[in-house]
This record gives sequence, structure tokens and C-alpha cells, in this order.
Amino acid sequence: MKSTAILDLMIKDHGKIVKLLLDVEKSIGMELISTMKVFDTFEWELEKHIFIEEKAIFTSYKPINIVEGYKMVPELIQQHNDILNRLRVMRKNLMWQRPIDYDEFKELIMAHKTFEEVSLYPKLDQELDASQKEEIMKKIREII
Ligand SMILES: [Fe+2]
Ligand SMILES: [Fe+2]
Repeated sequence: MKSTAILDLMIKDHGKIVKLLLDVEKSIGMELISTMKVFDTFEWELEKHIFIEEKAIFTSYKPINIVEGYKMVPELIQQHNDILNRLRVMRKNLMWQRPIDYDEFKELIMAHKTFEEVSLYPKLDQELDASQKEEIMKKIREII
């Protein structure tokens, strides 16, 4: 049985991001300075997570089934771009104290998280060998 090191680590990081997202929800309606402080932390962790995925993980992934494997990566990157754009819109709306699409954003994040945890990471842990995983883990530890 191969190790699930990458899946385990990324599930843990997903958990951290979901918790921070819930903190944002709870902080809405508080004083602007408090809401923005919570949002800053959430944004920092989410952007770091996406950076790790795109620069340390996806780039090191050489799928066995090329057609299937390489189809998944651009799709995930497109979802990241969508998430990052919405993050920027959300920051602007919060600053201007305008309503935000929190539920829609949360749904998008949760669907993306599930897709990675069910379809991407288990496959990656299966297909990469120990030294490739160690290289990825080393890069991740430089950022986390
Ligand atoms: Fe992602
Ligand atoms: Fe992720």
C-alpha cells in the first residue's frame, strides 16, 4: 500500500481553509476592521494553498494516463482562477460594505475541495513514487 502523505497533508490544509471561511461568515456584520482582519487571514491561507497546488504539486504530476491526468489539471487551474477572482470581488464588496455572495462562494470552495480529495490526491498518491513525493513535500514545507 502506497503512502497517502500528500492527500493527508492537503486534507489538513483544506480543513484549515474551511475553518477560516466559517470565521469570515461569523465576522460579517461586525466592525469593518474586524471583518477585514478575518478576511485577510482567510485570503492569505487560500492564496498560499492555491500557490502550493499549482507550483509544487500540479507541476510535478506526470500522470500515467496522460489524457485523463492532464485534463484534470487545467480544469482545476480554471477553478482556482474563478475562486481567486471571486475572492477579489468579495474583498471589494466587504470594503464597501456591500452584500457578498457568501453561500455561492462557499459552495464553489466545497465542491472544489471534494473533487481534489476524491479524484486528484488519491490518484497522485498512487501514481507518484516515494522520491517524487518527498520532493513535493519538501516544496510544500517551504511554504506552509
Ligand atoms: Fe485547489
Ligand atoms: Fe486544494
